Amino acid sequence: MRIVLVGPPGAGKGTQAALLAKTLSIPHVSTGDLFRANISQGTELGRLAKSIMDTGKLVPDEVTIAMVKDRLRHDDSGNGFLLDGFPRNTAQAVALDEILAEFGIALDGVLDLEVPEDEVVRRIAGRRLCRNDSGHIFHVLYNPPAVEGVCDICGGELYQRSDDSEETVRTRLEVYHTETEPIIEYYAKQGLVTTISALGKVDEVTERAIAALRENAND
Ligand code: AP5
Ligand code: MG
Repeated sequence: MRIVLVGPPGAGKGTQAALLAKTLSIPHVSTGDLFRANISQGTELGRLAKSIMDTGKLVPDEVTIAMVKDRLRHDDSGNGFLLDGFPRNTAQAVALDEILAEFGIALDGVLDLEVPEDEVVRRIAGRRLCRNDSGHIFHVLYNPPAVEGVCDICGGELYQRSDDSEETVRTRLEVYHTETEPIIEYYAKQGLVTTISALGKVDEVTERAIAALRENAND
């Protein structure tokens, strides 16, 4: 299955993507995680990405699209993939269509996670990530680690994202509304979008997501 996951910052895309990728045996490709890996490795791309991510704006399309194209060439993407955080504007959606056409494949569906803004703010405020892998995601109240400050999965140190500050979150939400939401309409025209509520327990949302993807696949 080739799926795009869309939703506001803090909706639970990364949390759900990790679980869905495991269930569907496809890789989870998160542009945010790819940028964070570059930041921790101290690459040139990481330095550029950090300076922009800390403002809440988007990293330039050119570098983001090239990074995704490179990632989708990996062998593990042959059976499908789950894109989280990409595309994030219409230019990226058009570029993704071109990349997939070049590879002779197409998207199966776009899953849109809907969460009210006050819940998004609560989720982001308590989020903690693992230094070893920013795909290991916790929340101080909603999904606390067994030992405070320590990742349950790999024992890494937990930290708060520097772009999770109140001011940057406000910009990220604005960018989501103005730049990212239009891609939902773009994909709706292709009959690809299923919207689900991302409220409730993590497992409940995963069940809802799997049911929606299966229903969409049978359409
Ligand atoms: P990115 O890392 O993609 O951030 P985002 O889209 O803002 O989304 P988040 O990662 O903040 O939230 P999420 O939906 O993954 O939620 P999570 O599962 O963590 O992008 C960061 C930056 O990188 C961008 O601002 C931009 O600068 C750059 N960038 C990335 N992609 C780009 C692109 N394509 N083009 C250009 N620039 C790009 O969950 C949040 C919290 O809620 C966690 O604490 C979790 O434990 C908790 N939680 C999850 N589910 C539930 C639940 N059901 N109930 C209660 N709590 C829950
Ligand atoms: Mg995320």
